[in-house]
Amino acid sequence: MSAHQADFVVVANRLPVDRVVNDDGSVDWRRSPGGLVTAIEPVMRANDGAWIGWSGGTDTDVEPFVEDEMTLVPVPVSAQEVEEFYEGFSNATLWPLYHDVVAKPAFHREWWESYVAVNRRFADRAAEVAAEEATVWVQDYQLQLVPAMLREQRPDLRIGFFLHIPFPPAELFQQLPWRRQLLEGLLGADLVGFQRPNNAQNFVRLVRQRVGHKTHRDLVYLPDGRMVQAAAFPISIDSAGLEELARTDAVEQRAKEIREQLGNPRHVLLGVDRLDYTKGIYNRLRAFGELIEEGEVSVEDAVFVQVATPSRERVEQYRILRDDIDRLVGRINGDLGRIGRPAIHYIHNSQPREEMAALFRAADVCVVTPLADGMNLVAKEYVVSRYDNDGALVLSEFAGAAGELRQAFLLNPYDMNGMKEVILAAMRAERSERTKRMRAMRKTVKENDVTRWATKYLDALSHVRPSHHKQVRP
Ligand code: ADP
Ligand code: G6P
Repeated sequence: MSAHQADFVVVANRLPVDRVVNDDGSVDWRRSPGGLVTAIEPVMRANDGAWIGWSGGTDTDVEPFVEDEMTLVPVPVSAQEVEEFYEGFSNATLWPLYHDVVAKPAFHREWWESYVAVNRRFADRAAEVAAEEATVWVQDYQLQLVPAMLREQRPDLRIGFFLHIPFPPAELFQQLPWRRQLLEGLLGADLVGFQRPNNAQNFVRLVRQRVGHKTHRDLVYLPDGRMVQAAAFPISIDSAGLEELARTDAVEQRAKEIREQLGNPRHVLLGVDRLDYTKGIYNRLRAFGELIEEGEVSVEDAVFVQVATPSRERVEQYRILRDDIDRLVGRINGDLGRIGRPAIHYIHNSQPREEMAALFRAADVCVVTPLADGMNLVAKEYVVSRYDNDGALVLSEFAGAAGELRQAFLLNPYDMNGMKEVILAAMRAERSERTKRMRAMRKTVKENDVTRWATKYLDALSHVRPSHHKQVRP
């Protein structure tokens, strides 16, 4: 397939692989971090399409290439744009604002200008790559202006947008000096998808109040007669693929080995996250430390493994978080650990999929405690890996996943005592209770996998824009 005539085009800030230049000048491609890539990659593999995105570097090589059977179309981003568009407006303005202001968002006019310029470049590239009447699916908060910019050039296209992170209530969104432009950018899509129904409601309400369009339930009526739908489509994972991996002998062997290397403790607790302040890593580790201090848990029979992928390391809030976590782990291990028995094993890097599956298999309790999170795929990955119907999932009420995984051990991550109680309850639950909960959650995640998510989304998209002949099926 030529990238110049794709009937199905995904536009995301990130390509699924990151270009890494080694010290000797050679180039390697590594899997990009984060849930967006985890979810979209299997959809892309099932579809013959093109994926437009940034390679993670500042190279200017823009020729489409095929990697791992996917057609990838790089969009160049300069060093200054990485600073202003990516680290600045995307990750120091929008990211904290959309995640309930858990960190203070910064507003800078130059960052906004860079955001507009980079969004235009992505839209231009999509306009070149999409075939006549193609379906173009724009992803996430970094590219909210692309739908309108693309529609202006290519009214023949069917345009979808999906936001992977929460969409804030009007009271917070209103702070943005460029609020109207962002809403109008999104309204260039035929269907604006969100993780949770309240995100879609926030959006429709804002469109009514701020842009003045007529709305009815989940529909927005534009003056030119076009209709835009805003609805929730909770994203998921390739459940069957991960379970297959988790069931392999190699992963099972490795899971055993991990437990042995940890000293075969009675309880292995696990945290897996990008190192991001929205994930509640600090509170979670502190809670575990306090449980040891209070004698509820002993380092002789419990250990916490925290694996954290480095993320957005040049953004100040992320630097602060990294230092805070380094200090906290050092303090807890220094105060409470014994020889051969640290309280926390902290690994600050990205692990291959096999190792992740083995970690999930080895963990008695998976602790997922975000302060705000669009979905959280780690929770779903843990559940799918536990094909033995054992293991306990501790899950924040503020993760989108809590809407579906009702049988998890749910908690409020701001409530330290509550969090400690729930972690203890998960550690002490009887096998029969663990099984009951896990079985129900597994059914949910297996039935609602990422293929189902994409099918539902693309079906809805073709209903809002029925005048189209071509159908895309994941
Ligand atoms: P986010 O998209 O905010 O990073 P999610 O929980 O939705 O959060 O998705 C994170 C994805 O990244 C999951 O697929 C998870 O397995 C993967 N991941 C997180 N930490 C690591 C790590 N240290 N090594 C490898 N993969 C990781
Ligand atoms: C989240 C966002 C994605 C982003 C990912 C990794 O999943 O929703 O859009 O790609 O985090 O973050 P990064 O900044 O490294 O792309």
